[in-house]
Amino acid sequence: MILYNDQFVSSEEAHVSINDRGYYFGDGVYEVFRIYNGVLFEKDAHMARLARSAQAVRINFPCSLAELEERLDRLVALNGINEGTLYMQLTRGEAKRAHPFPEDATPVLMGYCTEAVRPLIAMRDGITAVTLADIRWLRCDIKSLNLLPNVLAKQEALDLGSAEAILHRNGIVTECSASNIMIVKNGVLYTHPANNYILHGITREVILKLAETEGVKVKLQAFTVEDLYDADEVFICGTTVEITPVISIDNQPVGTKWDKLELNDSNDPTHTPISQPGMITRTLQNALSRYIGVDA
Ligand code: PDD
Repeated sequence: MILYNDQFVSSEEAHVSINDRGYYFGDGVYEVFRIYNGVLFEKDAHMARLARSAQAVRINFPCSLAELEERLDRLVALNGINEGTLYMQLTRGEAKRAHPFPEDATPVLMGYCTEAVRPLIAMRDGITAVTLADIRWLRCDIKSLNLLPNVLAKQEALDLGSAEAILHRNGIVTECSASNIMIVKNGVLYTHPANNYILHGITREVILKLAETEGVKVKLQAFTVEDLYDADEVFICGTTVEITPVISIDNQPVGTKWDKLELNDSNDPTHTPISQPGMITRTLQNALSRYIGVDA
């Protein structure tokens, strides 16, 4: 079943108008929730971010936040999802195509959930990533439907044989195409401060709290691509990736566990140097699994 405004309908019954402003302009906001053990993870934080995003782009909710929350819970229950994701979006509504806000449009709400397993293999073994220029706008803190730069970055990473794009503005690392990023250097965890250059990730926030309880020193401080190359550990984090280690960046292994010289001397041109996920990454992964209430 799909949530369509205040109704629960089948996918055949759910139709969106071609005049929906989300379709024309990406004029809307969205959220992605994780469902663990049949429950929406960090629901309050996601609801608060959704409210902030909607307010920032001046879209009014068609119902109260409490009502929306109830509908989302019902959606999960109706679909019997135990482990999965819930996607929802809110657009400014349907109106003849014109840039100004329409006077009479009613916001359109849509949500659905799907089964999805945790990315356990990537979480265990890590992924490779590439650095790319962050060409997005200056309000990346708004979870808006306008994701074209993110889509392009993700595809470019995949085309280059990597799983994720690490974005930077003039050499300062911001975040990734669909996740936040943290590095560890000399036992200190660094991540970009939560300002307009990044999405204020809910997973990021949880990890920062867990780091504190695990005794890991945190610095909310932006770092450069050079710092990234030089980091002891790197991981991405987000609703769908949880904490996924990055073991190679731009074809260079992450961290100091490997003898980089030896790897660079390799005569095998197909040999891609990789490293192994680090200790602090593992500690935080275990802490996050405990916090979620799932097996590590
Ligand atoms: N994306 N940064 C960006 C650009 C993101 O798109 C996301 C999540 C995150 C992580 O935020 P959170 O921990 O709240 O999921 C950071 C979702 C999953 C998506 O667009 O599919």
